[in-house]
Amino acid sequence: MTAGTLLVFSTIISSSLSFPTTAWPAKGEARKLSTHAAVNASFFDWQKDGQPAQWANSYPKTWDSEIVKYTQPSPSYLTTAGPGSVTPDGNLLIMGNTTNIRITDLATGNTTADFAVEGAELMNRMRSITAPSGGYSLIVTFQLDYENKTLQEYTLSLSGIPSSTPISREGGSTAFEAHPFSNDGRYFAAHRDEGRIYSLSDPDYALTLSRYTFDLIGADWSSDGATIATAGFDGVGKLWDAHTGTFIRDIYAGVNAWNVQFSLDGKHIATGGEDQTVRIYTTGGNFTSEPIATFDGFPDWVRSLEWSPKGDFLAGGGWDQVQVYSMAEERVVQKREGEAGSGQDASEVKDLVWLDGGRKIAYRVFAGLEVYNFDANLKYRWGRGEEDDFVVGVDYVQTWFLPEKGWAGGFDPDHAVRFWEFDAEA
Ligand SMILES: *[C@@H]1O[C@H](CO)[C@@H](O)[C@H](O)[C@H]1NC(C)=O
Ligand SMILES: *[C@@H]1O[C@H](CO)[C@@H](O)[C@H](O)[C@H]1NC(C)=O
Ligand SMILES: *[C@@H]1O[C@H](CO)[C@@H](O)[C@H](O)[C@H]1NC(C)=O
Ligand SMILES: *[C@@H]1O[C@H](CO)[C@@H](O)[C@H](O)[C@H]1NC(C)=O
Ligand SMILES: *[C@@H]1O[C@H](CO)[C@@H](O)[C@H](O)[C@H]1NC(C)=O
Repeated sequence: MTAGTLLVFSTIISSSLSFPTTAWPAKGEARKLSTHAAVNASFFDWQKDGQPAQWANSYPKTWDSEIVKYTQPSPSYLTTAGPGSVTPDGNLLIMGNTTNIRITDLATGNTTADFAVEGAELMNRMRSITAPSGGYSLIVTFQLDYENKTLQEYTLSLSGIPSSTPISREGGSTAFEAHPFSNDGRYFAAHRDEGRIYSLSDPDYALTLSRYTFDLIGADWSSDGATIATAGFDGVGKLWDAHTGTFIRDIYAGVNAWNVQFSLDGKHIATGGEDQTVRIYTTGGNFTSEPIATFDGFPDWVRSLEWSPKGDFLAGGGWDQVQVYSMAEERVVQKREGEAGSGQDASEVKDLVWLDGGRKIAYRVFAGLEVYNFDANLKYRWGRGEEDDFVVGVDYVQTWFLPEKGWAGGFDPDHAVRFWEFDAEA
């Protein structure tokens, strides 16, 4: 589950295990792709009362019509857009390449810090959160090699100055779709073969979730902070007591599990992964080992999952496809499917976000950010134009909504962060 109004999605993955088995082009190869699949009517578009969604006035918008654009510090690893993060209050933009971090004050556009991260060779992900002691905590992850992952926690002042030497810990980041921070912002989940829970305020605190035989990919905390759910490539989701690290139970999640998400009311938990199926289970005393509902038909991996704020809908995203399942109607009530199908470059749906109390949904596909407004049956898109190049394989994109500024945007796959005027709550 997500905390706060600003939804921050951290997104960098460098493990070769992360991808569906697709023939990806060589690293760094730039290509132009047709935008038709994204911009034209889809096979199944969003719809209301049988009428397909219409573009909102003046949409779709293309790159170079944004309000502001920041370019990533010169990337050395061309398939990596990011790592990047925006602080939860929307004040600071933190961008990295594989060795350096640059912090920008989004109010002034000024750089507040630009520094090499000690020992960093392949910094691959970052996340920021309001720190328990004030300011922000910034967690950056390195993939030194597959077996030896480390992460570092910097403390940043409100004005964007790193104010301490980082705390180093063993472990790597969970997948970008995971929600690794506890709701109270005090703990976060990481992995090093088995799962780990670390405390942001206490460098000596570490719980080991010890039943892992393979990487922990997904993680999510129950709203009350009592339980943490994890998903891994053993195809099994697991529930743990978040205070003691005690194993509670397994949840079957398919072949390779990618994602596990609690509904906000804590009553349900959903899983998704390689077998193109979303499974929904009850939690707590009412757990049954059979899912109470499933939906499938995704062209490939179910990569993203998000419960609506009230827990009445669950959205699943796969390759060029979003499905929205209604818990009340016990069926898929919306399906948006493009023409790309499985394995098409840059067509994987990422960063599903419910906005405006569940009246809108946002997601990334085809090098763009899209929003659908369910009530108005209108769709929005901010993405590359026909002539815009981007780096294929750079779909490690990230989305940020900044309600204080009325901005929407994120990390695009041409190594730029763009923000556009869009009031997600209007
Ligand atoms: C839709 O796609 C077709 C090719 O599939 C193309 O010929 C047509 O121009 C596109 N229409 C729009 C409005 O982009
Ligand atoms: C990362 O960016 C910095 C500039 O901010 C640059 O000096 C450094 O060489 C870059 N690192 C790599 C590995 O390209
Ligand atoms: C931001 O930078 C500009 C110059 O680029 C400078 O004039 C201004 O004082 C800076 N603002 C802050 C708050 O540091
Ligand atoms: C992991 O990498 C760090 C930094 O290079 C090194 O100090 C440490 O010995 C390595 N650990 C293992 C188990 O390889
Ligand atoms: C358990 O959950 C299911 C599905 O939400 C519900 O139909 C059933 O009534 C619940 N049983 C109990 C004992 O709460």
